[in-house]
Amino acid sequence: PEPGWTTEADVVIVGSGIAGLTAALRLRESVDKVLVVTKDQIAAGSTQWAQGGIAAALGPGDTPEQHAVDTLVAGAGACDAEAVRVLVDEGPDAVRELIALGAMFDHDPDGVLSLTREGGHHRDRIAHAGGDATGAEIQRALVAAVHAAPDIEVVEHALAVDLMLDADGGVAGLTLHVMGEGQRDGVGAVRCRAVVLASGGLGQVFSQTTNPVVSTGDGMALALRAGATLRDLEFVQFHPTVMYLGPDSTGQQPLISEAVRGEGAVLVDDEGARLMDGVHPMGDLAPRDVVAKAIMRRMLETGRPHMWLDARHLGAETWQRRFPTILGVCRGHGVDPVTQLIPVAPACHYVSGGVRTDLHGRSDVPGLYATGEVACSGVHGANRLASNSLLEGLVFSRRIAEALPAELRPWAEPAPDERAPALVAGDVRPELQDVMTARVGVLRGAPGLAEAAAVLDKLAGRDAEVVDLEAWQTTNLLTVAAALTAAATLREETRGSHWRDDFPDRDDDTWAGHVETTLVDGVA
Ligand code: SIN
Repeated sequence: PEPGWTTEADVVIVGSGIAGLTAALRLRESVDKVLVVTKDQIAAGSTQWAQGGIAAALGPGDTPEQHAVDTLVAGAGACDAEAVRVLVDEGPDAVRELIALGAMFDHDPDGVLSLTREGGHHRDRIAHAGGDATGAEIQRALVAAVHAAPDIEVVEHALAVDLMLDADGGVAGLTLHVMGEGQRDGVGAVRCRAVVLASGGLGQVFSQTTNPVVSTGDGMALALRAGATLRDLEFVQFHPTVMYLGPDSTGQQPLISEAVRGEGAVLVDDEGARLMDGVHPMGDLAPRDVVAKAIMRRMLETGRPHMWLDARHLGAETWQRRFPTILGVCRGHGVDPVTQLIPVAPACHYVSGGVRTDLHGRSDVPGLYATGEVACSGVHGANRLASNSLLEGLVFSRRIAEALPAELRPWAEPAPDERAPALVAGDVRPELQDVMTARVGVLRGAPGLAEAAAVLDKLAGRDAEVVDLEAWQTTNLLTVAAALTAAATLREETRGSHWRDDFPDRDDDTWAGHVETTLVDGVA
């Protein structure tokens, strides 16, 4: 539809988690007008849900080199070593800056920053806040800083629909679908000189995910439609320990942080046997893909829908001090982890791939940048190391803010838009999620992937009757689901979080490179 209103800003940032708000706070120092648009309320994204913390070489004896080694090993040969270098070298300063901004991390009684351990780390390297409420504290501090900066405008309830492109395919603006925001209600257009995507992941493609409802792959779908390249989409991480709430529980599920294992919890089966014994030298703190696979294998062998996390020996005091959020959630679901085992199963947690970017967040569309989960900077490879995600958003948003002002493009005229994506009906969502979970989930194989592709193709024919938020979100889910399925079909090997039952081994001879996705005639 034609935009009902128009405004302008030098830079529009899409998303308001750690990546988006860090970019906004940094860019305002050198750009006249920064506009943040966010699909829900400012704090509704994934950042506030992060539990374990943020990884950086801040502890005694730790070094960026050791952090790099752990990141590269977890990434199973698919990381970009230069991007990892940037992440680990700039990480400590970035975290110190977050502390200076007002984020209150946990300290021991002597005032030393508390650091814990998670899967794949050989050091205590995870800074945390409020015990297990790290993301919520970071989000609080960033929102407070943005609210104290009157020159940053924030528009909430604004879905970024599509980029407006100039005749050369560069950014000229962004169309938005805004819900209930007074003068700026309905479909509008922001003319701008650059767009920074910081819109998070795509967890809602699956039936069970730790992601909030807003994670519908909007930024990746928008980037694809604008001609950008996506990379590594097949590497979707399934968190090993998501609380199992029964077969009918769908949507966002409660995460049980790896930090609980970092403090000593262990995985066991129905007989009480330790699951990770003999599986990996790091045991319960092996990299996330290894632990998720071990759980899945035992679930398949036994036909059980979940395994168990035993954290009873932590005791009431440790539970209360270190994991008050998780304790409350477990008890809310009728499980007291001080005296009972927690039922856990893997669920979708994070997409390591995304919009392909360089070391300063640039995509291959002039004027389009990406940071955080929507981006693929190359730091995660085939399996993200625990607690590197908040860090990636922080570090790469700072780098975008360093590079972007000097390369701001002149104002450009939007070219006539020939693209007219057909919107699909919102009610296809459950069928989409079911087939993605069953066929493109933790364990994949060619017949299931082909079945998923066929179902997605069929769903693409179900036109929406009304153009509303749900139709846009479902269309975006379908776009990224098809792209993910195509990438997973192509990669005929097992690597990191991509597990194929028909190609069970890692194949460095054929698959050391990346799978990249673009849209051709609307098809991934
Ligand atoms: C967790 O707390 O287990 C999640 C950490 C992460 O996803 O990096």
